[in-house]
Amino acid sequence: MSLASPFDPSRSDLVVAVVGAGAMGRGIMQVAAEGGMRVIAYDMQPGAAAKAREFIVGMLERGVAKRTLTAEAAAAAAARISVAGSIGDLKAAHLVVEAIVERLDVKQALFVELDGLCPPETILASNTSSLPITAIAAKCRQPERVAGLHFFNPVPLMKLVEVIPGIKTAPAVTDALMVIARRMTREPVRCTDSPGFIVNHIGRAYVPEAARVVSEGVASAFGIDRIMTGAAGFKMGPFQLQDLVGADVSVAVMESLLAQFYGEPMYAPQSIQRLRVDGGLYGQKTGAGWYAYAEGRRVDPPMPSVPSVKPSRIWLKPSPRHPELQAPLRALLVQSGIDVETGQEPSADAAILLTQIGYDLTTAIVDLKLDAARTVAVDVLFGVDKGPLTMMVTPATSPAVLAGVHAALAASKLPVFVINDSPGFVAQRVVAHIINVACQIAQRQVATPADIDKSAKLGLAYPHGPLAWGDQLGPKRVLHILDCLESFYSEPRYRPSPWLKRRAMLGLSLLTPDAVVT
Ligand code: NAI
Repeated sequence: MSLASPFDPSRSDLVVAVVGAGAMGRGIMQVAAEGGMRVIAYDMQPGAAAKAREFIVGMLERGVAKRTLTAEAAAAAAARISVAGSIGDLKAAHLVVEAIVERLDVKQALFVELDGLCPPETILASNTSSLPITAIAAKCRQPERVAGLHFFNPVPLMKLVEVIPGIKTAPAVTDALMVIARRMTREPVRCTDSPGFIVNHIGRAYVPEAARVVSEGVASAFGIDRIMTGAAGFKMGPFQLQDLVGADVSVAVMESLLAQFYGEPMYAPQSIQRLRVDGGLYGQKTGAGWYAYAEGRRVDPPMPSVPSVKPSRIWLKPSPRHPELQAPLRALLVQSGIDVETGQEPSADAAILLTQIGYDLTTAIVDLKLDAARTVAVDVLFGVDKGPLTMMVTPATSPAVLAGVHAALAASKLPVFVINDSPGFVAQRVVAHIINVACQIAQRQVATPADIDKSAKLGLAYPHGPLAWGDQLGPKRVLHILDCLESFYSEPRYRPSPWLKRRAMLGLSLLTPDAVVT
C-alpha cells in the first residue's frame, strides 16, 4: 500500500479521532472541533472521554463569555465532538491522534491495534514529547502512515505544532498533517525524528547553563533570574521556569535527552539539579524549589543591600572593539554624578572598570596588565538601560573597590548584582549557549533555520529566535564568547557549532541554509 495520497486533507467532512482524553487529548479535540472537523473522543477509562467532552463544552462557553467565540461557533464545535462507544468506532476517522501515557511499550501496542483496525489510508499520529516516532511505528504493518504531531500545553493557547516523520513515514503523510494542523489554526513546523524534536532540544540550553553558573558559585539563582528577565528580556528566569515546570519533570527530560545524544556534554544538566529532585524540591507543586512559596505564591529573597561610599573616581577603560556598547554605561555613571576618567591610563587612586565581552575578568586583567585589586567589570552587551547591571569581580578585588563601584552603579537607581568571575558574565554565556545549541540543531538538519527560530518563539516564548538573536548580537561576537568559554574551561561543552563557526567566518547570517548536497 502506498500512501502517495492518503486522502484530501482539506476535505470538509474530515474526521479526527483522539485517543487519550487527558490534558493534551482534550486540547487537541477542542482545536480540531473549532477548526471545523468532526472529532471522535476515546479513552480506555470508562467515562473519561465523556468528561473530556463536558470539559471542552465548558471551555467553549468561556470563550463565548469572553467574546473570543460566537455562541453559534461554540455550539457547532461542541456538536462536532462525539464520544466513541469502543475503540472500534475509530475506524471512521481519517486521522487518529494518540495522546496517551508516555510509555513506548503502551504506545507501540496501541499503534499495532490501530494499524490492524483502521483502513489503510488512515493516518496515525502520536503526540509524544520524548519517544522516537520511528520506534512507536516499528511494530506496525504500515509504518509509513505513522508520524508525530506534537502539540504544546495548554493546546488552545499554544499555536506551535511539530510535525515529525519517522524514518519510514511517507512524505504525503506529513504533507497532510501540515494541512490539518493549519486547519486547527496551529502553526506547524516540520522536523526530523530527533531527540527532543525542536522545542525540547532548544530548551536544553537555558536552564542547564544557568544551573552551571550557580553550581560554580558565580551567581545566585535569584540574581540570574533577574538578569535574564531584565537585561536579556526573557519572560521568565531559568529558575522560575524550573519551579513552574517542576524539577522532577524537567530534570527527567534533560537526563533523557543527554542519554539519547550519547552523553553530548552540551546538553548536560548539573548535579545540583538532580539533588533537588532527590530532595523533593520540585518547585511550585511541592511548595519549595529554587524559591520558597507561601500560599502558592513565590517568595523572592531580598535584593542585595547597596553600599553607600562611592569611589572618588572610576577609570572606564576605553573599548576599541565596542565603543557603542560602552558609551551608555559611561553616560549612566556621569548622570549619577560619578567622576569617570577615560584617558589611556588610570590615575593612581581610581577604580578600574572593564566592559569586555567574552573574556573572564582574570584573563582580561592579566592580558591588559592591570591592578587586580582595583579592577572590576560590567556586562554591557544587552544594554544598560533596563537593568539589572551585572558587575563582576575576582578573588583579588579589594573589598573597598567592590563596594565603591557597586555604590556608583547603584546610584543610577538600577538594581545591581555582583557576581564572581566567569567568561561571558551571566547573560552572555547563557544566551551564547542557547544560540550554539540552536546552531547545532540547524547543523543536524533537524529543521530549517526559520522553523528553529519560530519554534523557540512560539514554543518557549523566547524574546527572539536564537539564530536571529545571534545575527543581532553578531555571529563573530557569539563565536568569540564561546571561544572564551571553551578556552577557559577546556571543556567540549562550549565548543562552537560548525554552523556558527562557518557563518561567522564567512560573514553570513546564522539563518543562511546549507547548500543542497547532491
Ligand atoms: P494525561 O495523563 O493527562 O492523559 C492521558 C490519558 O490517556 C488518560 O485519560 C488515560 O486514561 C488515557 N490512556 C492511557 N493509556 C491509554 C490507552 N492505552 N488507551 C487509551 N487511553 C489511554 O496525559 P497528558 O499530559 O495529556 O499526555 C498525553 C501525551 O501527550 C503523552 O505522550 C505526553 O508525553 C504528551 N505530551 C504532554 C504534554 C504535557 O505538557 N502534558 C505536552 C506535549 C505532549
